[in-house]
Amino acid sequence: MLKGRHLIGPGDFTIEELDSLFCLAERIQDDPRYLRKACEGKVLATLFFEPSTRTRLSFEAAMLRLGGNCLGFAEPGSSSAAKGESLADTARIVSGYADAIVMRNPKEGAALLASRYAAVPVINAGDGGHHHPTQTLTDLLTIKRLRGAVAGLTVGFCGDLKFGRTVHSLAKALTRYPRIETVFISPPELRAPDYIKAELGAPFLETDSLEKVIGELDILYMTRVQRERFFNEEEYIRLKDSYILTKEKMRLAKKDLIILHPLPRLNEIAPEVDEDPRAAYFKQAVYGMFVRMALLSSILGCV
Ligand code: NCD
Repeated sequence: MLKGRHLIGPGDFTIEELDSLFCLAERIQDDPRYLRKACEGKVLATLFFEPSTRTRLSFEAAMLRLGGNCLGFAEPGSSSAAKGESLADTARIVSGYADAIVMRNPKEGAALLASRYAAVPVINAGDGGHHHPTQTLTDLLTIKRLRGAVAGLTVGFCGDLKFGRTVHSLAKALTRYPRIETVFISPPELRAPDYIKAELGAPFLETDSLEKVIGELDILYMTRVQRERFFNEEEYIRLKDSYILTKEKMRLAKKDLIILHPLPRLNEIAPEVDEDPRAAYFKQAVYGMFVRMALLSSILGCV
């Protein structure tokens, strides 16, 4: 069903396609031998023009666990981008070497552009402050695994909602599920962009106070203030610690709240919260590899 498809934005796959992807990811997680050699002989190119730990390594781990191979670069300085090669040419050339391309780039729209020139599926691993659809797959699978279903939840997004691409993608994806209430929690300077709010096509609440709303939430999605997207370092320093989730604040939250974070975490979640059974962000990172195994085996037609 997903064979040969690109994944550029959070709305590219239908709910049914997402459901079958999540079922596949659960099956792979529950039976480590399943699909162990499914992608034998296939090659994945990981082209990372921006820093990454989880996304790149979980994609590479996913491909290796499926019996495939990986090549690529982890920073643009070591590729011909440093010589001024266009993304279109890079995409064309890498298509001759690999069966799929995973790309992260600081420019919004970069993955979409690459997909127009690539002869193989392109997966967007983050395009500037725009979208990050495979983090959304990770987030939805985590919610599904921990809550049983993605429905009837009040989801709070907290932190840098302006530049946080994981927020943009997940908020948009969630509007397609039943009875989801969205709460945006940020300082006025870091509110979600209007184009994202318009794309939601559903009502939402906006506030600058985490304390006021934390007691209502089923999911709290914390985010890092995205220093690399600020024009002004002083502004970053002023805003970086706007929210710090502590044990004390967690006393106001529901007993079955789930705390998510795409990671890396800086100060926004105090390490003392890690012991709280409601902290799910480390589990979330592990689910990310299984959902990427499901994604790769599906788009490569190996399942
Ligand atoms: C996120 C990203 O790159 O957007 N990281 C990730 O992929 N897990 C979040 C972030 O960098 O803050």
